[in-house]
Amino acid sequence: QEGDAEAGAVVFKKCSVCHVADKDTNKVGPSLNHIMGRTAGTHPKFRYSPAMVEAGKGGLKWDEATLRDYLQDPKAKVKGTKMVFPGLKEEADISNVIAYLKQYSQ
Ligand code: HEM
Repeated sequence: QEGDAEAGAVVFKKCSVCHVADKDTNKVGPSLNHIMGRTAGTHPKFRYSPAMVEAGKGGLKWDEATLRDYLQDPKAKVKGTKMVFPGLKEEADISNVIAYLKQYSQ
């Protein structure tokens, strides 16, 4: 089911302590501008965990399915990730935040 980008903007408040999506600025976490289709761990100016860099080298790319997995349980999807965020419990929240991120991936 397609997410709702407006509802996703509200969910993104949980992310925005550490991330922006509307511009290329890193905070505690890497910018999520143009995240769809990006290889994991490749923002040139962000210092990732070795685990995230390895995941990218292993072929992890961010799309609908991989983002869903990571946001459900970050530490299960990328063992050793330094993203200290427990993930989102609600399927709908995940769909909506992905729809929000897509707006900034065109
Ligand atoms: C990494 C999304 C919440 C800190 C990432 C990545 C994504 C993401 C897609 C991988 C980026 C890449 O490969 O370039 C989200 C979303 C969130 C959220 C959608 C909210 C639902 C947070 C929060 C924090 C945080 C609250 C800080 C407490 C980080 C850090 C990384 C990261 C430090 C780098 C991880 C690593 O190098 O292992 N996030 N995030 N994130 N995020 Fe988040």
